[in-house]
Amino acid sequence: MRTDDLLVLLRGVLLDAHATPVVLTPATSEPSITIDVDASDAAEAAQLLRDALPAGLTLPAVVCLTSGEDRVTVTARHLPGAVPVPDPRDGAAGSAASRAGVVAGRVALVTGGAQGFGEGIVRALHASGAWVFIADLNLDGATALAKELGERATAVGCNVADEDSVAHLAATIVATCGGIDLVVSNAGIARAGSVLEQDLAAFALSTDVNYTAFFLVTKHLGRVLRLQNVAAPDWATDIIQINSKSGLVGSNRNGAYAGSKFGGIGLVQSFALELVESRIKVNAICPGNFFDGPLWSDPVNGLFVQYLRSGKVPGATEVEEVRAFYESKVPMGRGALGADVMRALYYIVEQAYETGQAVPVTGGQVMLSS
Ligand SMILES: NC(=O)c1ccc[n+]([C@@H]2O[C@H](COP(=O)([O-])OP(=O)(O)OC[C@H]3O[C@@H](n4cnc5c(N)ncnc54)[C@H](O)[C@@H]3O)[C@@H](O)[C@H]2O)c1
Repeated sequence: MRTDDLLVLLRGVLLDAHATPVVLTPATSEPSITIDVDASDAAEAAQLLRDALPAGLTLPAVVCLTSGEDRVTVTARHLPGAVPVPDPRDGAAGSAASRAGVVAGRVALVTGGAQGFGEGIVRALHASGAWVFIADLNLDGATALAKELGERATAVGCNVADEDSVAHLAATIVATCGGIDLVVSNAGIARAGSVLEQDLAAFALSTDVNYTAFFLVTKHLGRVLRLQNVAAPDWATDIIQINSKSGLVGSNRNGAYAGSKFGGIGLVQSFALELVESRIKVNAICPGNFFDGPLWSDPVNGLFVQYLRSGKVPGATEVEEVRAFYESKVPMGRGALGADVMRALYYIVEQAYETGQAVPVTGGQVMLSS
């Protein structure tokens, strides 16, 4: 077997043994244990690893894995703040007061993490003690954010609509941390336009980034999560798509966006049904408009400025009036914030008994019906 697959299995074996998040980082020091794995499949390799690790192994430990000519040496350790995951069947488990703690010590990926909602999610996960991979087309922005956050933040240049790029992203995460617990598929774009006027290229780009990319991210990161699960059958992991209220109700002159987001809900439900056997939960968060983010508030190209210029809001002569018009559509009187999205995200990760759901975070603007 390939050593990168063995790393994922070793992480799984340690998750299974400790019920606590663990990272495997490349090491140059002498290993305390060397394990030669000659196995024909993942289950056999996991068993070999389990048998070879000393009972009650304490971390950190430097472990070398060899397979034929290939070898890899890693330090296995718990990040500060990592705590054992409570048994979900325990009635007292998982108090909401410590919800942010559910991600402490875990490995997370946020696509489109350089700005907007993604940046907010990156910052919150990092502050909660997770190791966060910031994958973005804008590598400079992702690198600047990772630098600012320091340890436990890794920038990766990635085009989520390109399969090779997403495969490279998954390989980078495995080589850096040995596996992953939480995938946040957030990168998205808005290409508004009338169905009678819109170019096919704009429609296709929206579909590629908002819809197809979620398939690619789930395919390549889901493979890592499934392999890890072979060695850690009780360890629950999450794939979360940042969808939109436009994935729940149609959006006038914005069909490319709303259609791609509606499609995302279909993928979420279908992937959830398939991946549940590997204890991978797949859910969506559907936020309302993020008026404070660059998409709306950018002083040059933001939607408030665009809508002012195009006269979309009758009688508005100032950006503030356009904003007030849109805020008045929200029963709770304001746009969605990163913190609102994070409360839903922590709920989804903590909730051991739900999958395939779309959680609205819209201040009451969209209410579910069936
Ligand atoms: N802004 C809102 O009002 C709003 C509301 C509901 C849902 N959303 C959803 O939230 C998500 C984030 O939106 P936002 O408003 O924060 O966007 P944003 O434009 O502020 O940021 C998007 C980030 O994704 C990156 N990105 C774009 N295409 C990419 C690609 N192909 N590969 C990798 N990275 C790419 C960009 O470089 C950028 O850093 C999207 O899925 C969006 O549909 C946004």
